[in-house]
Amino acid sequence: MAVPSFEEARAQVEELRRIIEEHNYRYFVLDQPVISDQEYDALMRRLLELEAAYPELVTPDSPSQKVGGPPRPEFTTVRHRRPLLSLANAFSAAELRDFDRRVRELAGRPVDYVVEPKIDGLSVALTYVNGIFTLGATRGDGEVGEDITANLKTVRALPLRLRQNIPHLEVRGEAYMPKAAFARLNSQREEAGEPLFANPRNAAAGSLRQLDPRVTASRNLSLFVYEVIYAEGRTPDTQKEALDFLRELGLPVNPYRYYCRDIDEVIAIISDWGPERREALEYEIDGLVIKVNDLKLHPLLGATAKSPRWAIAYKFPAEQAVTRVEDIILRVGRTGVLTPTAILAPVRLAGSTVSRATLHNEDIIREKDVRIGDMVVIQKAGDVIPEVVEVLKEHRRGDVREFRMPDHCPACGAAVIRPQGEAAHRCIGGLACPAQVMEGIIHFASRNAMDIRGLGPAIVAQLLEAGLIRDAADLYTLKVEDLLPLERFADQSAQNLVTAIEASKGRPLERLIFALGIRHVGERAARTLARHFGSLDALARASMEELTALPDIGPKIAASIQAFFAEPRNLKVLEKLKAAGVNMVAGGSGAEGAPGPLAGKTFVLTGTLPTLTRQEAEELIMKAGGKVSSSVSRRTDYVVVGEKPGSKYEKARELGIAILDEAGLRRLLGGEAGGQKAD
Ligand code: IVH
Repeated sequence: MAVPSFEEARAQVEELRRIIEEHNYRYFVLDQPVISDQEYDALMRRLLELEAAYPELVTPDSPSQKVGGPPRPEFTTVRHRRPLLSLANAFSAAELRDFDRRVRELAGRPVDYVVEPKIDGLSVALTYVNGIFTLGATRGDGEVGEDITANLKTVRALPLRLRQNIPHLEVRGEAYMPKAAFARLNSQREEAGEPLFANPRNAAAGSLRQLDPRVTASRNLSLFVYEVIYAEGRTPDTQKEALDFLRELGLPVNPYRYYCRDIDEVIAIISDWGPERREALEYEIDGLVIKVNDLKLHPLLGATAKSPRWAIAYKFPAEQAVTRVEDIILRVGRTGVLTPTAILAPVRLAGSTVSRATLHNEDIIREKDVRIGDMVVIQKAGDVIPEVVEVLKEHRRGDVREFRMPDHCPACGAAVIRPQGEAAHRCIGGLACPAQVMEGIIHFASRNAMDIRGLGPAIVAQLLEAGLIRDAADLYTLKVEDLLPLERFADQSAQNLVTAIEASKGRPLERLIFALGIRHVGERAARTLARHFGSLDALARASMEELTALPDIGPKIAASIQAFFAEPRNLKVLEKLKAAGVNMVAGGSGAEGAPGPLAGKTFVLTGTLPTLTRQEAEELIMKAGGKVSSSVSRRTDYVVVGEKPGSKYEKARELGIAILDEAGLRRLLGGEAGGQKAD
């Protein structure tokens, strides 16, 4: 890149920001883009280059901030000016008429309404001071939320600067993940062996509650704003006016909104919004919100403890389909719970093809009287996995079969019991049950546990089948040569998996504790235990009294921890993990986040380096506190390039990521800054 003088750069930066903001407004608010995505990206790239050359030109409201700032240790909390409530629901026209009658009685006169889509996302509270976005918070418990400003800044639809300079503005809206972004994210996660999000709402929530805003930036979230809480110097009289005002300010307002003179008009709109219309939208909605248009009536109507009396959510009936139960199979979970699942004749439902439905447990099968061969009504209630609603008994034929919970585990043959007071059946095989072992290893490797990239359910099954592993600790003995003969593995993928397993040795103690899969010990309890005991050995020796004295640890969890460490088979696995060099102490050597010259930096390697093998380079980076990733994204800090680099090099240049050769890497490892910006 040609680097202009500071003064020239300043002028260009200002001009670029103005142009980019204008295009954002055209795209997200007016829905009338005038340039292509490539042209937009080129403008953004130029802005990033100039800001990289002159960091003093970066301002908090620059559109460049949308790539995400550095990670933070935790979220701080924010008390909301007015609590964020939820909405009461209506499921029928009759219930809407009841709502209208209550409103008219309290108001003492007829009222008009505005109807808006109910976006299925996450409510957010946004504050602008002097036109600049300064604070964004989650709903939290309604009174106190979390400060997610840095993450919200990465949402492209959210303007960092308003089109009018008003001294103070507070608004509420819904952050959401568009359907396409959700489908893409889940397919990436599936490939990487990571757990899938059940629905776009969960995915949006997970993405906004990331401590690393660059992760949020990669998730393609969007936003609609629907409520003015406070606007200094301007008080809209009606909801209709408030929505117009929000739009004038440059905030994204949903294009569908209907002014209705009375409840009959509201009901007409609702009957117009059938499943096809919802399916055609690029985002999920779970109903329509009906609001009293006259904002002066809102304080008068007030709120119950949970929801305002001036609005109600009309919830769409869940989408249903009819199909046949071809079989009922059992899945044995990590803790031995047997979950029955209906295998269905494939059928289209709410935009996808469905061939399984959960039946939860035996009681539910009995209650609904589901038999193999039955025609059933299934529905999706917000989640990706549908459920069986009812059996169409009038279609039942003579050849249906009743399902019985087996006395013995289908995976290991051990006895199946139903503990008193529980709805679940459990296999008592424990670590002798291959299904439990497999689920345990999948859990061990999962994202929030040891985070072994690329080690998903299919690969774990393959490794077990080939006899290469029998427990999680065996993973650390795997060599590239062991994997090569297996289907699906080539040089590169085998090397990647071995590297990923190696990298997991340094995970913090709390992750290891969670990864062990001790019953009832979730991430939170694992964190408490790691902080208090500081090492796995100390945890193993802890007494009942010591354990139950801790916050989050009740007698049930404590007993489960003691039982875990009393089991010889578990102790053997722990011995093997220790021998493999897995970190077992808090802040242990080689642990992530350990201070090192490359702490917090992400590297991607491409091409052959002159003296280091790829594995050596990766090890050096990880020992110095850095992370190695396999693909280049905006989150990459450095790309190390050797001879015959691949497309990663091109991508790095495109994104303006610092490029290093081996000598540059060695300088960084020595603690010196190095590398040149791609031009
Ligand atoms: S108005 C309750 N309008 O639905 C305060 N809410 O169950 C008034 N939502 O927490 C909310 N789209 O997150 C309103 N157009 C819309 C909405 C909407 C989605 C969410 C919002 C709220 C939840 C209520």
